[in-house]
Amino acid sequence: MSSHADYRTAGPAATTGDLVVLGIETSCDETAAAVVRLDAAGAATVLSSIVHSQTVDHAPYGGVVPEIAARSHVEIIAPTVQRALAEAGVGWDGLTGVAATAGPGLVGGVMVGLSFGKAAALARGLPLIAVNHLEGHAVSARLGAEVPYPFLLLLVSGGHCQLLEVRGVGEVARLGATIDDAAGEAFDKIAKALGLGYPGGPALERLAATGDGGCFALPRARVGEKDCDFSFSGLKTAAFRQAQACETDQDRADLADAVQAAIARQLAERSERAMQAWPHDSRLFVVAGGVAANRTVRAQLEAAAGRHGFRFVAPPLAYCTDNAAMIALAGAERLARGEHSDIDAVARPRWPLDEAAALARPSSGAGRKGAKA
Ligand code: KG4
Ligand code: ZN
Repeated sequence: MSSHADYRTAGPAATTGDLVVLGIETSCDETAAAVVRLDAAGAATVLSSIVHSQTVDHAPYGGVVPEIAARSHVEIIAPTVQRALAEAGVGWDGLTGVAATAGPGLVGGVMVGLSFGKAAALARGLPLIAVNHLEGHAVSARLGAEVPYPFLLLLVSGGHCQLLEVRGVGEVARLGATIDDAAGEAFDKIAKALGLGYPGGPALERLAATGDGGCFALPRARVGEKDCDFSFSGLKTAAFRQAQACETDQDRADLADAVQAAIARQLAERSERAMQAWPHDSRLFVVAGGVAANRTVRAQLEAAAGRHGFRFVAPPLAYCTDNAAMIALAGAERLARGEHSDIDAVARPRWPLDEAAALARPSSGAGRKGAKA
């Protein structure tokens, strides 16, 4: 279970009335700023959410280049924040706090957003909340719908693949995680082997729509394992080999379809393990992260949820992929509990949500998106 040791208690005054929080997100290749209002009843309203994607800057390199990302964040952060405030119709004086991602992620980028947040908080006399990016994803479904705690969360993106028991903000237990690549990373790398551009996941989904993967035998990882961990490296190696043997566009489309089906199946199978062991009466299954955009993945997860009596919620895509509204909401929920961070909060390339589980069972090393959690 994650701890509150990273936060200070501000006192009961912080817990009353509406909170209007500026969120800043710069942990990977999106420069994002948002303003979110959290009312006393716990309902969130997104007043603005600006996301500047750097995809075009990184596309020539086939993946995110940390140095380019950090420089780009520096150039765009100030106008992005100004736009978020302007679209929200809120001035600096209308804010009750500033929340910035403090990790995990590419540390150069994290430092840009966190430093900007610290400067704004200091200059305006506002509390700073240094937010764990994963905590943002964990609360993201609460931006678009009424999503009561507790819920089972599958966080599946380019940098993360985890199953989490979310009991409240800051009260998250990791049930399982990938022991090698994240699912989005597998999509991206296999897409690259098939000659598709970056980001590969959406391109692979488009190609798969014209294929039939039935003729490909790809390895099935972790079948029969009782835990909730994932593994995509065997699939990736086999897909690389088969991609080299593809001779026609139809072969490549068929392989893309087989890969997509294999990833979706494993995500559903491991999620079902977590559903079988779920200890709460309230049965709600939330999926977040960029891979949740994949229709085959969504369909398999929804079917799995249905089999186990879970309601299925996928946040709108704008809040599935990296954004600052989720960071603002995580910060506001902390603030509502009277918590804030010290102004010397550090940028953390690695920051597992569930420190105890991460120490007991460390997952793999750094991936395409930098440090994993
Ligand atoms: O959440 P996100 O925007 O960024 C982080 O990784 O934090 O997720 C991006 C990932 C990439 O790996 C991308 O290829 C994958 O999500 N993705 C998809 C699809 N759309 C995005 N993967 C498969 N099918 C998609 N339609
Ligand atoms: Zn993310």
